[in-house]
Amino acid sequence: MEPPRKRMVRSPTGGTDAGRAGAKRLKTAKERTPSSQAWLERQINDPFVAEAKAKGYRSRAAFKLREMDDRFRFIRRGARVVDLGCAPGGWVQIAVQRGAAAVVGIDLLEMEPVPPATILVGDFTDPDCGERLIAHLGGAPDVILSDMAPNTTGHRQTDHLRIVGLIESAVDFTIAYLKPGGTFITKAFQGGETANLLNLLKANFKNVRHIKPKASRAESSELYLLATGFRGKAVR
Ligand SMILES: C[S@@+](CC[C@H](N)C(=O)[O-])C[C@H]1O[C@@H](n2cnc3c(N)ncnc32)[C@H](O)[C@@H]1O
Repeated sequence: MEPPRKRMVRSPTGGTDAGRAGAKRLKTAKERTPSSQAWLERQINDPFVAEAKAKGYRSRAAFKLREMDDRFRFIRRGARVVDLGCAPGGWVQIAVQRGAAAVVGIDLLEMEPVPPATILVGDFTDPDCGERLIAHLGGAPDVILSDMAPNTTGHRQTDHLRIVGLIESAVDFTIAYLKPGGTFITKAFQGGETANLLNLLKANFKNVRHIKPKASRAESSELYLLATGFRGKAVR
């Protein structure tokens, strides 16, 4: 489940699911803010939340990765996968299900294990984190996933800088360690990545696409950058 403080939505009250005919409504509890009330109603009426629960996925985010992998088939049997910002674990579950041989995830938050994946707790932007991840993985990753999202402050420029900072760290790590031919996915936000970042990805990968999976809420500015065919030469 994605708690409200971590979601990047344009309007805290702009959910569409709660407004549909037949959608369940909650009594407004005095202690709930309007935005957390809207988040709760959206969660309760969200078909992906219900399906995640029915299928035993830790988060509705699992469907975003599943859809992208169904389309582009980058998690091959036997692959080594790194998952940045992995809690509560939906993407790790998909990577394991799809036959990855080694999955190493990291998050600031603790999460329940997903055997046989290795989960580290820590800040990915710490200087020694890249080497730690690779040491646990046992070799160069075939796939690097990043669904990292910073806590938002509500201050547009600060939030923008935090997002770009996380994407830049993930791209630096990827360029340093990804196996040639490998795939990189990062969460991004409309207008959130800089032209420099896109150019860097285009210089290092054969294909770079923007993707908006169906499970990514329409009212959210979230999208994903999918970069395939790493050239392996670390152009910076
Ligand atoms: C949207 S959630 C990821 C959901 C996950 N893909 C799933 O399927 O369950 C984003 C995560 O990024 C993590 N995160 C944000 N900044 C981070 C950092 N610097 N290092 C590690 N994790 C970070 C947050 O703690 C949060 O759990």
